[in-house]
Amino acid sequence: MESWNDLKTECAACRRCDLAATRTNLVFGVGNESADVIFIGEGPGEQEDLQGEPFVGPAGKLLDTMMEIIGLDRTKVYITNIVKCRPPRNRDPLPDEQEACIGWLRRQIDLVDPRIIVFLGRIAAMAFIGSDFRITRQHGQWFEVLGRPAMALYHPSALLRDPSKRPETFVDLKLLQQEIQKQT
Ligand code: URA
Repeated sequence: MESWNDLKTECAACRRCDLAATRTNLVFGVGNESADVIFIGEGPGEQEDLQGEPFVGPAGKLLDTMMEIIGLDRTKVYITNIVKCRPPRNRDPLPDEQEACIGWLRRQIDLVDPRIIVFLGRIAAMAFIGSDFRITRQHGQWFEVLGRPAMALYHPSALLRDPSKRPETFVDLKLLQQEIQKQT
C-alpha cells in the first residue's frame, strides 16, 4: 500500500499537462484521509490556486453550508478535484488535462477508501459516470462508481449563479444523509 506522503510528494512535482506552467499552487486535497465520504469537484479557482486548498472561495463557503445541513464538515470528509491545477480564467478543464491528472485522484480514492462518492457538478460526474451524464436530470441519483454508491450534486458555483436550484439540492443532500446513515 502506498503512503500519503509518497503520493503528495510525487503529485507536488507534477508537470503532466500545461496547467502546471500557470499554477501558483497545486491543489492536492484536504480533509479526513480516511473519510466515509469523498467530495470531488472540477478544478481549483482563483482563491484555491492562491491558497493551495480546494473550495476556499465563494463556492467553498456554500459547500461548507451544504455540508453543515447534513452534519458534515471538513474534518469528516475528504475534498479534492478532478484536476489539481487551476485552468486559466476558470475555463473547464480540457479532456487531455483531465486524463493527465485523474490518476492522482484514483490513487487518493484508493487511499481514502470512502464508502460514498459525491461529485460536485457535471464535469466531475462525467469523468466517472460517463460523457452522457446530464446534471439537470441526473443530480441526486445513485450510481455505482468504483464499487461504491456515488451521486452528483449541482456544483456550488451553479447554485450561486442560480439559487432556484437550491431546493432540489436540499432534497439531494437529504438522500446523501440517508445513505451515509445506511453505510456507516
Ligand atoms: N470549484 C471547484 O470545482 N473546485 C474548487 O476547489 C473550487 C471551486
